[in-house]
Amino acid sequence: MSLRKAATEVRENAYVPYSGFKVGAAIKGASGAVYVGCNVENAAYPEGTCAEAGAIAAMVAGGETEIAKVLVIADSPLPVSPCGGCRQKLAEFSAPDTPVTLATTDGKTEETTVATLLPGAFSDAYMEQG
Ligand code: THU
Repeated sequence: MSLRKAATEVRENAYVPYSGFKVGAAIKGASGAVYVGCNVENAAYPEGTCAEAGAIAAMVAGGETEIAKVLVIADSPLPVSPCGGCRQKLAEFSAPDTPVTLATTDGKTEETTVATLLPGAFSDAYMEQG
């Protein structure tokens, strides 16, 4: 199944009683397997989780830690832009040039990369000394 179809389908399951804004994400792991996630909100607003975080959690739970590509989709006027926290979460499991497709439900897309979304990402390399 294409990443677009997978993200479109899982988006329907988003739990968004507070924002009403459904987001779907699909990740292709290095193995070729596809992992999906949707946003899950909470009455305690900061406890909500983004679609990207859900897809990353599914990937790791499935035994993979390498993102080959990712697609995020929402019903937005412009291709949906991942939040800052999700950019950092994607960077943890990606190469700088890992492709990211941002999409709208009405067919607009923007192709970018993890490093373009988060230049200068913090990584474990900064914790090495000597
Ligand atoms: N959201 C995502 O799930 N991913 C994004 O890339 C942008 C924002 C969610 C968080 C919240 O549930 C809703 O969209 C509105 O911010």
